Amino acid sequence: MKLHMVDVVGQYQKIKSEVDAAVHKVIDSGQFILGKEVGELECQIAGYLGAKYAVGCASGTDALQIAMMALGIGPGDEVITTPFTFVATAETIALLGAKPVYVDIDPKTFNIDPTRIEAAITSKTKAIIPVHLYGQAVDMDPIMDIARRKGLKIIEDSAQALGASYKGRKVCTFGDIGCISFFPSKNLGAFGDAGMVVCNDPALNEKLRMIIAHGSKVRYHHEVVGVNSRLDTLQAAILLVKLRHLDNWNNARGKFATRYNELLSGAPVTAPYISPVGTHIFHQYTIRAPKRDALADHMKGKGIPHAIYYPIPLHLQKAFLTAGNKRGDFPVTEKACDEVLSLPMHTELNEEQQSFIAQAVKNFYA
Ligand SMILES: Cc1ncc(COP(=O)(O)O)c(C=O)c1O
Repeated sequence: MKLHMVDVVGQYQKIKSEVDAAVHKVIDSGQFILGKEVGELECQIAGYLGAKYAVGCASGTDALQIAMMALGIGPGDEVITTPFTFVATAETIALLGAKPVYVDIDPKTFNIDPTRIEAAITSKTKAIIPVHLYGQAVDMDPIMDIARRKGLKIIEDSAQALGASYKGRKVCTFGDIGCISFFPSKNLGAFGDAGMVVCNDPALNEKLRMIIAHGSKVRYHHEVVGVNSRLDTLQAAILLVKLRHLDNWNNARGKFATRYNELLSGAPVTAPYISPVGTHIFHQYTIRAPKRDALADHMKGKGIPHAIYYPIPLHLQKAFLTAGNKRGDFPVTEKACDEVLSLPMHTELNEEQQSFIAQAVKNFYA
């Protein structure tokens, strides 16, 4: 049985004619940079999320960097985030000369634990970056409350959660700026790198728009120091096609998750928790598994793809080993790093494949 962790080609085959037509239209137009599809996608993503503005950029990593640049975060500032995330969240903080300050996670949702945030705030704290990990909404109300009381900015790392909501409202719209990744394996994935920043403030929108284009509104007039991080037209055209399918795809992932839960019942693994205050779009289906590394080896032996997001917490990564970070600093995260295992999750899964995967997990523990 041929199994994939993510099946971007299988998904493409189902919408091939729509995608191919959109791609050829862009090629025929010759408008490869900031063609009309970029503006259309920005409008449609803003509309989909219920936000006022969206600005395309070159990746989710750039989205985070550009968001922090627009909010004036730089040397001497501290930014609070989770140590249990993809490196980009902390890397961009460090790249701007600021310091990532970590707060441990909630053991059930794997998201930043809002009850621990206040203790990490200092006079240097400028912003908090909650990450909606694996596609599950962060508990935003307490975080927004802290931000209001302490005068902090919020940047939502929504790279893994496009379409998830919190208390009926789409994530990515609660903070000052929301960041999206369209990396190919994401629930809405481009055919290359792409990203977007989302906001409701017209002045911020203008600033974000300048930053992505070398700090200029008018060509060769540079008002601020910017970067070259435009979303390219071909990717926008592909994403416009795929956006029409996103809700169906997210629903399909939800059904596959429910089926995994059923198939795995009885095995000594912990299925993903779904918080009652938000939705989960299952970018990843991630279990906690006893003897995780041995289970991973067993799966490998059976030819079953799987992944560990993430094996090393950010505070223990070599690149961020500053100021005496050590094992034991964030025990909930460290335990998660030792126990999590993500099973294949994508729109092209089928029942037979899921049964095979779940049976392999059960056999390991039998
Ligand atoms: C939580 C998180 N933040 C940021 C990123 C960065 O996005 P990109 O790969 O598009 O740069 C990713 C994805 O890869 C991610 O999962």
